[in-house]
Amino acid sequence: MGSTVFNRDAALEKIRKFICLYQSDLSFGHGFDHAERVCRLALFLSEKEGGDPMVLEIAALLHDIGYVSLAALKRELIIGDSGEEHRIFENYLTGTADHAELSARIARNLLKETDLPDEKIDQICTIIREHDKPNKTSLEAKILNDGDALDRCGATWIARAFQRISAFDRRLSMGTAIDRYLKPSGKDPRHTKTAEEMMEKRLAYQNSFVKQLIEELELKS
Ligand SMILES: [Fe+2]
Repeated sequence: MGSTVFNRDAALEKIRKFICLYQSDLSFGHGFDHAERVCRLALFLSEKEGGDPMVLEIAALLHDIGYVSLAALKRELIIGDSGEEHRIFENYLTGTADHAELSARIARNLLKETDLPDEKIDQICTIIREHDKPNKTSLEAKILNDGDALDRCGATWIARAFQRISAFDRRLSMGTAIDRYLKPSGKDPRHTKTAEEMMEKRLAYQNSFVKQLIEELELKS
């Protein structure tokens, strides 16, 4: 792509329409609203910690597009037709795929249809591919990972957990839900000071919610 002026608003509109169409029916917590929350978190973190907000905004919106609906994938509307893409697609369906890799590939196909410069597309796809990997080569990938992790804790996570339970685990008892979903795992790495502080606050709330719930279930309060 040449050096024409990049139309950010047009690209964002196209991306949002795309994720709304293909990601909105994922009611287990990786849907359109997760992408929007992570996007807001990433931009907030970027204001404090640096990084390129334009690439972060797009990478955050598309970081989980690999969790696309099966119906959309079956129609093969959104992945390319190379052998490698089909291999990843098949792995995705059998549950062994790397969702970040698939997200990066779908993002590339979509972004090629915008006037975003090639080097920005490469940068965005690398951020998406690395966002859940241990070795991240950019501040933006670290910030995206922090935003993603922040959406997995606190009151937000409690709400997401019950979204997931109502979609897939409707027979789950509250006691099991506590162990399976609600207790903080504490495993998420934090890459930035701002995220660290926010996460501590969110985890404190989540822990107090779990404690109160256990006390109520055990009739201790
Ligand atoms: Fe995510």
